[in-house]
Amino acid sequence: MSFNGKVVLVTGASSGIGADVAHHFATKLGAKVAIVGRNENRLNAAADEIKKCGGSAPLVITADVTKDASRIIDETIEEFGRLDVLINNAGYGDCTPILEADIEIFDRLMETNVRSAIILTKLATPYLEKTNGNVINVSSIAGIIPYKEHFYSISKAALNQFTKVMANELGPRGIRINAINPGFIKTGAFDAAGWTEEQKQTLFNKIGKKNPLGRIGEVADTTKLMAFLASEDAAFITGCLYVVDGGGMAANNFNQD
Ligand code: NAI
Repeated sequence: MSFNGKVVLVTGASSGIGADVAHHFATKLGAKVAIVGRNENRLNAAADEIKKCGGSAPLVITADVTKDASRIIDETIEEFGRLDVLINNAGYGDCTPILEADIEIFDRLMETNVRSAIILTKLATPYLEKTNGNVINVSSIAGIIPYKEHFYSISKAALNQFTKVMANELGPRGIRINAINPGFIKTGAFDAAGWTEEQKQTLFNKIGKKNPLGRIGEVADTTKLMAFLASEDAAFITGCLYVVDGGGMAANNFNQD
């Protein structure tokens, strides 16, 4: 599998799933990557890590996906002249029960997890059309099962449906669009959501042990799936949702206290 000469744009790429997939495309698959995030220092650190491991220098775009979608696409095209893969990964969760939550929490989640992905996909379409490119949306198992991160679950369900609906419009233009739906993956997302070390370990160990594959996910698990979906090997796959959860859904291993 090679992405030599191809350009991959990853949002939310300064940490976790996004940082790992950008690193993999740049250092293992020969792609040029544009990495997007709000924290310049963390983005630069991710870029340094890529260069240290032999990848070509990433384009660092310090931007908020909810505000700067046009600039994100424009800067990528200005720098590289093309776009082959768009990975809509930026996102976050919120555990507030709906009856207790201000509706602004819903608005913010939908803006980040869904609206920005839709806008970026629309803006990227003319360029992806030229390269027979593709889009990968990073959704969640919470988009398939009614998971207790309430509004989050709704936002990821919307992202999944967008993926399927949009496949109909993008297919005739030679563009594929798919979504990955990870179960629990060890990243800083839980820190960002305010979880303590103890809460994280309890969750990781409990869920991990109950998963048929005996562990929760690592970022490499999501990265490998995305590399496949972005590649020519997946040329006949579009509008699909791919669960990557160690069998957690098959074992009904979510929403259990
Ligand atoms: P993370 O918190 O390390 O990564 C999310 C990244 O998105 C962060 O760098 C964050 O700053 C960035 N981001 C958030 N809002 C942004 C905005 N408005 N503009 C630009 N960047 C923004 O967490 P993780 O786990 O790597 O999450 C990546 C994606 O994976 C998210 O969409 C998340 O919902 C999804 N996911 C994560 C799972 C997990 O267990 N870690 C499970 C299922 C889905």
